[in-house]
Amino acid sequence: MRIVLACALAAFMFPLASRADAPPKLGLCAACHGENGHASVVAHPNLAGQNLAYLRDAIAQYRSGKRDFPAMRAALGMLNAAEADAILAWYAQQPAQAAQP
Ligand code: HEC
Repeated sequence: MRIVLACALAAFMFPLASRADAPPKLGLCAACHGENGHASVVAHPNLAGQNLAYLRDAIAQYRSGKRDFPAMRAALGMLNAAEADAILAWYAQQPAQAAQP
């Protein structure tokens, strides 16, 4: 029973992290930034192809409170530094999207 519950919970938490090479917990970010870093909502920034150093700096600012955005702080609170870095590296490697006119 516990195993069934754990699987159900995992499926709920990571519904989008379906690609085999995706980092663990990508689903925590993919809900807003997309699995490939292309956000489906204009208010959520695309992360695909972004400079990794820039992404790391942004995350440090959300963690420190220099950038104050509760949803980001909440999502980051569920990741340790290594998990967050793996996700940032993933997003940095995704192909960027051409600008829409
Ligand atoms: C509830 C939606 C939501 C979730 C979940 C979320 N983000 Fe964000 N994220 C945003 C929004 C909205 C912004 C822009 C906030 C602002 O104005 O500073 C943002 C900003 C960012 C930025 C800065 C982008 C830039 O161009 O400066 C990074 C990097 C980022 N998010 C990574 C992540 C990671 C990694 C996760 C998973 C741990 C995550 N986000 C989860 C909504 C979300």
